[in-house]
Amino acid sequence: MDKIKQLQEKLQQAYLGGGQIRIDKQHAKGQLTARERIQYLLDDGSFEEIGALVVHRTTDFGMDKQKIYGDGVVTGYGTINERLVYVFAQDFTVFGGSLSETHAEKICKIMDMAIQVGAPVIGLNDSGGARIQEGVRSLGGYADIFYRNVQASGVIPQISAIMGPCAGGAVYSPAMTDFTIMVEQTSYMFVTGPNVVKTVTNETVTSEELGGAHTHASKSGVTHMTASNDIEALESIKRLLSYMPQNNRVLTPELGFTLGDEIREELEGIVPESANKPYDIITVIKGIVDSHSFYEIHKEYADNIVVGFARLAGKSIGIVANQPMSLAGVLDVESSKKAARFVRFCDSFNIPLLVLEDVPGFLPGTDQEWNGIIVNGAKLLYAFSEATVPRITVITRKAYGGAYDVMNSKHIGADMNFAWPSAEIAVMGAKGASEIIFRKEIAKADDSQAMLLQKEKEYAEKFANPYSAVERGFIDEVILPKNTRRKLIKAFAMLEGKEVNRPKRKHGNIPL
Ligand code: HXC
Repeated sequence: MDKIKQLQEKLQQAYLGGGQIRIDKQHAKGQLTARERIQYLLDDGSFEEIGALVVHRTTDFGMDKQKIYGDGVVTGYGTINERLVYVFAQDFTVFGGSLSETHAEKICKIMDMAIQVGAPVIGLNDSGGARIQEGVRSLGGYADIFYRNVQASGVIPQISAIMGPCAGGAVYSPAMTDFTIMVEQTSYMFVTGPNVVKTVTNETVTSEELGGAHTHASKSGVTHMTASNDIEALESIKRLLSYMPQNNRVLTPELGFTLGDEIREELEGIVPESANKPYDIITVIKGIVDSHSFYEIHKEYADNIVVGFARLAGKSIGIVANQPMSLAGVLDVESSKKAARFVRFCDSFNIPLLVLEDVPGFLPGTDQEWNGIIVNGAKLLYAFSEATVPRITVITRKAYGGAYDVMNSKHIGADMNFAWPSAEIAVMGAKGASEIIFRKEIAKADDSQAMLLQKEKEYAEKFANPYSAVERGFIDEVILPKNTRRKLIKAFAMLEGKEVNRPKRKHGNIPL
């Protein structure tokens, strides 16, 4: 009986973490505690904790007198919508959630199991960083986690929520996971904080400006999503996971779906007559995919390209689409990086890719060239070229220049390429092209402006359509917008058994 009492007491202490005062402090900031977060995230009653009674082994700085069960992180496994996941939640009430050697060991233990079993790992980060009293042992602990992030990459999905501080080298674990979600106002990520920034560069900046959720969602692209509170962040994780398989050897579970005629009249008339008028590609996406299934990722970053998950006839797909509403849908440094990373995620995890293309080319200018549009554009080209999942492109309007090649063209391995009748597939727009190739004739003409217009018209008649590309087989079929959903459902179903065998190699050398 005493032994049972002893166990109950220890567990009670573990559940209390750093104590009620610290828990109240966490709640006062509008945050949940580590255990509350896990409870909300997982299916009711499914959580099984591992290592609840672990304590640190430090004796320096009087730490031997301050041992708290769990050592600042709650780890274990459970289910989300009945699918197994491994989870760790750092407990800020215990030594500020700081990472000790044992804290790291607990995280590594579940990561190792997740890799071997083949189930996602979710990290709920809320930590003051390396446990200062442990010196290099805590740094080593971080590196042990980083190493496992890389071993797990492309094998099991890894999702990070940043729900409190995340500073120093600690930011590199979330950065190596597949998706990061930050909570507005209560979380931040930076390599060096405002004080160090002030000392080194003399800049005055707040934590929020330097590394808050909005900063990383819109400026750096470090976070894929923001949430206004803990609950919203946890809901985002659940939704995100629903589009992913358990690991790289299986497919995402399908939702039940009954096939109808799948004709979508609302897709007609979205693309304006004028080639220069914008329209919202998200309307097109929503018209094609299963209703309410589109989940946009990385929304605030590089909004000239849209990436996200959706379902088509109940099956998970990844979507990459140029957005004519922003910079005319041009490809630039940021949009290329954003799309490349998304394509690689989908390819790692057997999620078929749908590309909606309306791209006037790559963005010109010194800013782009000096910031490496060559090497960054090459990332997207590389990512598509190496992807072996079923890949389909629909050209809704412009497919100009190098961007035609890059945006999942037939030439780089796309399986089915469709075009709407409004498609224009050419080296460049009619005006620019005419000014170059008819320069002499235009210069000699009595009315050079009239000549330019005439040549533009001739060029547009030849190329402002999809038919040269269809004649060559670069486009498989010109389809009416209203038939797009139907065509895609059939084509993806046809491609389900796709297998690609590549020459043996250690790994490619993507232009990073
Ligand atoms: C040990 C820590 C700690 C840490 C916080 N605590 N960070 N203990 N190691 N890194 C403890 C505090 O002493 C305090 O204990 C409790 O956690 C809560 O901290 P507060 O400061 O009271 O909370 P708050 O005011 O909310 O401030 C949170 C904070 C601040 C901004 C995170 O604590 C802070 O600046 N901590 C240090 C951050 C840091 O520099 N970490 C090292 C980063 S470098 P008591 O007992 O008083 O409640 C790094 C390298 C990683 O991580 C390298 C990987 C390669």
